[in-house]
Amino acid sequence: MATSRPLVIGNWKMNLDFVEAVHVGQQIGVMLKNRPAEHTDVVVAPPFVDLRSVTSIVQSERIAVSVGAQHVSAHENGAHTGEVSVSMLKRLGVEWVIVGHSERRTMYAMSDEVVGATLRAVLRGGLRAVLCVGEDLSVRDRDGHDDFVRDQLVSALRGLDEGFNELITVAYEPIWAIGTGLSASNEQVQHMMTHIREVLTGLSIEGCRVLYGGSVNAENAEGLLVAGGVDGFLVGGASLRAESFLAVVHASNDCYALKR
Ligand code: 13P
Repeated sequence: MATSRPLVIGNWKMNLDFVEAVHVGQQIGVMLKNRPAEHTDVVVAPPFVDLRSVTSIVQSERIAVSVGAQHVSAHENGAHTGEVSVSMLKRLGVEWVIVGHSERRTMYAMSDEVVGATLRAVLRGGLRAVLCVGEDLSVRDRDGHDDFVRDQLVSALRGLDEGFNELITVAYEPIWAIGTGLSASNEQVQHMMTHIREVLTGLSIEGCRVLYGGSVNAENAEGLLVAGGVDGFLVGGASLRAESFLAVVHASNDCYALKR
């Protein structure tokens, strides 16, 4: 298992309206008070329209989670209808931003160039960026995944000021494992974790946590941590209910506590 403190991020995607979001947030709060996860960093990333409500309850009820956004504009302000800026997120108390999720890349034509510009906007604003990378099935089938992921990493991260390193997290999310119920195997994940860490070292990015995402749940979390060597998870479907999300959080927390 990796040695850094685990990080578990719930990506709610386009689920849970603000009433439902407050409900799930409060449940997470109660459950974490009953059973703290003191060795694990926990983040939830609700839809934009829920952010104000979720940051409010997290602050007022002192819930041990941070709040993230699922996307942000690379631009500071101005004529960008439908977009949201980094400074707007900061004002809400948002600390994390997911950058370049495969659903943004594939369904909303987010190019590598825009991913890089967005990452820089997030870092310049002092927020923490979760850079998502990962190949689709056709790339995996032709054994191109290592090159593909390296190119995505290099394109987004090359030339960054080293002062930003502590704000960067990478999430490996193979597209074929997202929402399919078919997680990558521990061996596939372990191979990719080693590869990604080598690429990061080559880019002079040290100490960055590397997460896995793709059909993570309470059953496969421990194996992915111990045998897969991940530093935590980006969780989709299983993050929509407090019980299943906290099951992943506690699995991570217990693993880390045992290994220390
Ligand atoms: P699932 O956990 O639903 O497969 O989603 C993974 C994901 O895309 C998280 O960002």
